[in-house]
Amino acid sequence: MDKKNLFEKIISKKEFSDLPKEDVKLVFQKFDKPEYLDEEKLKLTRDLLRKMYTVFLSGKLLNFKSKEPFWFLSKHLSTRERLSFYPELYKKIFQFTEGEWILFDLGSGVNGFSSFFFPKKNLKLKYLGIEAVGQLIEIQNKFFHGNKNFEFFHESLFDLEKIKTLFKKEKGKKIVFLFKVLDSLEMLKKDYSKTFLTEISPLADLFVVSFATRSILSKKKFFVERRWIYDFLDKNFLVLNKFELGNEEYTIFSKKDL
Ligand SMILES: C[S@@+](CC[C@H](N)C(=O)[O-])C[C@H]1O[C@@H](n2cnc3c(N)ncnc32)[C@H](O)[C@@H]1O
Repeated sequence: MDKKNLFEKIISKKEFSDLPKEDVKLVFQKFDKPEYLDEEKLKLTRDLLRKMYTVFLSGKLLNFKSKEPFWFLSKHLSTRERLSFYPELYKKIFQFTEGEWILFDLGSGVNGFSSFFFPKKNLKLKYLGIEAVGQLIEIQNKFFHGNKNFEFFHESLFDLEKIKTLFKKEKGKKIVFLFKVLDSLEMLKKDYSKTFLTEISPLADLFVVSFATRSILSKKKFFVERRWIYDFLDKNFLVLNKFELGNEEYTIFSKKDL
């Protein structure tokens, strides 16, 4: 099969049909090697794409009708696991923000629906969600249609220039969420998280990263230290709080001179 046909076949599955084409190409390139048969290239590419982008989704999310925010939150593994922890989580995060802030939720999944948990007192937030799975952008765009405080962008975090342009367009104090997304980036490009944080940190003020502490499927606890990222954060940023809540480990940090 030629490359074009193989590529078309990879994205013929609904779950991969609306990913940024550049991301699919990057993953495909990893396996486009002489030692693999076409079927193996297809399978390996789809397996990695699933791990990076769609394993968290319930199929129902891609075939939704009109539903309530809690329904959406319960159909994505990350937001479902976090449902009973959102009030405490947002209390911990938004104690550092007051007044007007712009929130960039990177690799947002359906986390825009958790805005119903944002504190209302002393805080005016504009929410921008950036996500590679086009269907998730579409769902949230439809739901928040007409609300100027919400915008969603179908972009890849591997396209650093585009992400930086989105940041530069917004004037004001910025907070960045990277909830359970750095591991996905690292699956394709080792140490990309560090490059990414180094590049966007001059454009924002406050950051929250999180990592899963349990396997998504078996729910078994991981025993990983992630020194590679925590040493980097300690060295380059001011860590304001680090805590475990639910099945996640969060770090809130700012630039050293906030
Ligand atoms: C584990 S989910 C977490 C979703 C959300 N941050 C949350 O915690 O509720 C990881 C998300 O990152 C997205 N993602 C992974 N790599 C990405 C990339 N290169 N660009 C944009 N989004 C990406 C996936 O599609 C998926 O929705």
